[in-house]
Amino acid sequence: MRAIKKIAVLTSGGDAPGMNAAIRAVVRSCIYYETAVYAIRGGYQGLIEGNVKELNVRSVSKILGRGGTILKSSRSEEFRTFEGRQKAFDVLKKHNIDALVAIGGDGTFAGAHQFYQDFNIPIIGIPGTIDNDLPNTDYTIGFDTATNTVTECIDKIRDTANSHNRLFFVEVMGRDSGYIALKTCISSGAIAVMLPERKLEIKELIQILRKGYQNKKTSSVVVVAEGNPNGGAYEVAQKVKEHTTDYDTKYTILGHLQRGGDPSCFDRILASQMGVAAVEGLLDNRKDVMVGVINNNIEYTPLIECVGVHNPIDEELLRISKILSI
Ligand code: F6P
Repeated sequence: MRAIKKIAVLTSGGDAPGMNAAIRAVVRSCIYYETAVYAIRGGYQGLIEGNVKELNVRSVSKILGRGGTILKSSRSEEFRTFEGRQKAFDVLKKHNIDALVAIGGDGTFAGAHQFYQDFNIPIIGIPGTIDNDLPNTDYTIGFDTATNTVTECIDKIRDTANSHNRLFFVEVMGRDSGYIALKTCISSGAIAVMLPERKLEIKELIQILRKGYQNKKTSSVVVVAEGNPNGGAYEVAQKVKEHTTDYDTKYTILGHLQRGGDPSCFDRILASQMGVAAVEGLLDNRKDVMVGVINNNIEYTPLIECVGVHNPIDEELLRISKILSI
């Protein structure tokens, strides 16, 4: 007799392109392995409120290529409390659900680990966040699509920057991680990147800009991570203006458009791999772990080793960005 007969899936925290592909993979592999599968709508808050529905193989048709999450998402304050988690557990018990797949980021996994500790309910996490700020996986679902979106946006900004010989500060998401900023600095040929992990002083930035203009650059883009200690794109643009009036300066905050859009091929495949691995992991009695893909191999890492750990910035990419931006 198999221990796990009913699995539920939810998405939590900020949505990311490819979450739907992961939901589809979880649902289809449950059905493939003759396991009942349930959707929880609205993340942990939805679970607390009993928002549970059984799915069938067709429930996830035509969602592979759609952005957002069909299950909706939330950041639940109530789930942070024991009473909230007790209500959530009671809902799972009511539906005889044996295990849970939680798709999200750091906060989602912190909640999942606590839930497992409280009630011993088998849970596997799938990393879904545009930030790519989780350890123990090379990539998180949504990062590739978001960085493609940012690259496309900066290419467009560059057209107008070139036409007017302007300096643009472009702010990108990532919370306290500079991964999106660093990758898109290289992919868009920006002159500099301002990261949360490495404070670039305004005076240093001005030196970089001056050198670029001495080297006959006529326009430039600086990518600013939202967690940059000198402030976002607006603040940095103001500070540069306080020091010098040499540049015709503009700023753009890309904001939530980075989270939307159809997932890239890479994100669809990553999400599909991880969704299948999550179900196979649960059926194999794994619990309290996150699925990761490292060097194209599936790895399961205890959730506790995946929360509150800052993914260090890629020093090699930072070095490359400096060489190429002269
Ligand atoms: O974690 C994904 C993310 O988009 C971060 O990059 C950003 O800081 C945050 O979520 C924004 O959250 P919200 O949509 O709740 O404002």
